[in-house]
Amino acid sequence: MQLIRCLLLVQLSLFLIDEALAGRDFYSILNVKRNANTNEIKKAYRRLAKELHPDKNKDDPDASTKFQDLGAAYEVLSNPDKRKTYDRCGEECLKKEGMMDHGGDPFASFFGDFGFHFGNGDPNHHDTPRGADIVMNLYASLEELYTGNFVEIVRNKPVVKPASGTRKCNCRQEMVTRNLGPGRFQMIQQTVCDECPNVKLVNEERTLEIEVEQGMVDGQETRFVAEGEPHIDGEPGDLIVRVQQMPHKRFMRKGDDLYTNVTISLQDALIGFTMEITHLDGHKVPVTREKVTWPGARIRKKGEGMPNFENNNLTGNLYITFDVEFPKKDLSEEDKEAIKKILDQSSINKIYNGL
Ligand SMILES: *[C@@H]1O[C@H](CO)[C@@H](O)[C@H](O)[C@H]1NC(C)=O
Ligand SMILES: *[C@@H]1O[C@H](CO)[C@@H](O)[C@H](O)[C@H]1NC(C)=O
Repeated sequence: MQLIRCLLLVQLSLFLIDEALAGRDFYSILNVKRNANTNEIKKAYRRLAKELHPDKNKDDPDASTKFQDLGAAYEVLSNPDKRKTYDRCGEECLKKEGMMDHGGDPFASFFGDFGFHFGNGDPNHHDTPRGADIVMNLYASLEELYTGNFVEIVRNKPVVKPASGTRKCNCRQEMVTRNLGPGRFQMIQQTVCDECPNVKLVNEERTLEIEVEQGMVDGQETRFVAEGEPHIDGEPGDLIVRVQQMPHKRFMRKGDDLYTNVTISLQDALIGFTMEITHLDGHKVPVTREKVTWPGARIRKKGEGMPNFENNNLTGNLYITFDVEFPKKDLSEEDKEAIKKILDQSSINKIYNGL
């Protein structure tokens, strides 16, 4: 007992020394488990980047350090080679092998070059010419909407770069008055422009990581500020990514509820059964019936629906509707008698208007 405790202490102190030497703990910065997959790392980064962005934490003197730590943690853990090296021997080791000199900021790949507007846009800019918005449909499977996913879009983005010379810009119509002699004036409209440094549009390859968030609904839009059509004299439009939910073979979605159909045999319908339904993320939903199940019977599995977008802790229900398959073979006279005896059901033959 004493020995074990002693060993534990030694191990603990070794671990602490290790940490101090090895640099930052990227897993705790991102608040993910050491076995987190890429999706979980992206999700953690995207969520924390929104929260820790220096623009949002102007009172915190450490805000930019925290934000840089977060970026570095993401750069390393989202790259399999760097992550392997980091897991083996920490940040110092990455530096030694020249794998830390990137200093890249992954923020733009999640939120676009202009980030997101905290607040409700900029009301002063409505006169500025603006490029068109681009709407992009993002086809998402029900599986993706259930578990969440990231979709990487690689695109050629026209970026405004300086060029030699000048160009006319900010052109507008202005009224000017001309003195035509004593007591006579003329007012004419003129196009007036400024001289601006010349610019050109250059295509650059950019990656956008678009999150399909859990519980997103068909038609839901995510706006990437200034990632739309550029405008040489003004601001670029936005890129709007619109979720299009694809139909699913086994599940139908209504709000946060899921619906599915199951065909059972007449035998199971009469004597009961146990089965499993494979859910969208692969987990099994057990279904057990002890009573008679009639065609069209519907049972509800609480909490087995879709996660709610606003609050992932809330989930809809799963409704299972049963359909009964009757045997096709003909029964012998003895079987018929036996069934009659078992069911002991008198003839009903009630005729009614089923419409
Ligand atoms: C279940 O069956 C009903 C009736 O045939 C059908 O309208 C519905 O689309 C089916 N649902 C699924 C999820 O296949
Ligand atoms: C969801 O549950 C988690 C853990 O139980 C909790 O920390 C979080 O605040 C909950 N979120 C909401 C929106 O209720």
